[in-house]
Amino acid sequence: MARLEGKVAVITGAARGIGAAAARLFAAEGAKVMLADVLAEALQGVAGEIGPAAAICPTDVTDEASVRKLVDETVTRFGKVDVALLNAGIEGLVVPLVDYPAEMFDKVMAVNVRGVWLGLKYAMKAMEKTGGSIVITSSTSGIRATQRSRVESCLQSWKLKPTRREYRAGRSLRASGSSWSWCCSGWPSSSGPMRR
Ligand SMILES: NC(=O)c1ccc[n+]([C@@H]2O[C@H](COP(=O)([O-])OP(=O)(O)OC[C@H]3O[C@@H](n4cnc5c(N)ncnc54)[C@H](O)[C@@H]3O)[C@@H](O)[C@H]2O)c1
Repeated sequence: MARLEGKVAVITGAARGIGAAAARLFAAEGAKVMLADVLAEALQGVAGEIGPAAAICPTDVTDEASVRKLVDETVTRFGKVDVALLNAGIEGLVVPLVDYPAEMFDKVMAVNVRGVWLGLKYAMKAMEKTGGSIVITSSTSGIRATQRSRVESCLQSWKLKPTRREYRAGRSLRASGSSWSWCCSGWPSSSGPMRR
């Protein structure tokens, strides 16, 4: 039997790269997938490849109303949320800390940190009674700083913090039998370094 038969997954950043690959794999394993991204046209392409197991919801993960709508639409369409893969992210710039532009820092914070937190907020609400799994795509650089980009490293480690703390505090998700995971990506051969 397929490993995700009967499961419903929300995947952010699903229009390309790791998110699109995960969407194809989840669907091949029997899951229904709700695909979210700012790139609506590319999202449609991935959903078209997958077929009826996929639906799309163009979403900006930095926008609270947009993320709330994503989770609501998933429940309306598929009845529940079993898995949230919070994967949308941008790299920003790979430059020394002293040269890092403040506007780019704010942009990366908005997508990689606020976006993940909003995803957690609404996925956790949806899973409160049923339980579920939340997976966050972070980076090996979130665990160990690299010479290459200390700012990227610092922002990736932020993705890991709220969930670690929530988990240790034994809050709602754990109480409902849910699990947390982090996938710390290196450079996948499919996508290369993240695009800005
Ligand atoms: N590829 C790598 O080298 C690498 C390394 C470490 C970590 N990661 C992590 O993996 C995740 C996916 O990376 P990827 O390589 O597939 O990158 P990618 O650029 O191919 O895909 C990221 C997706 O996120 C989407 N996105 C960006 N901003 C968004 C927003 N505001 N709302 C909704 N969607 C948005 C993009 O449109 C894109 O489709 C990222 O979170 C990244 O931090 C990637």
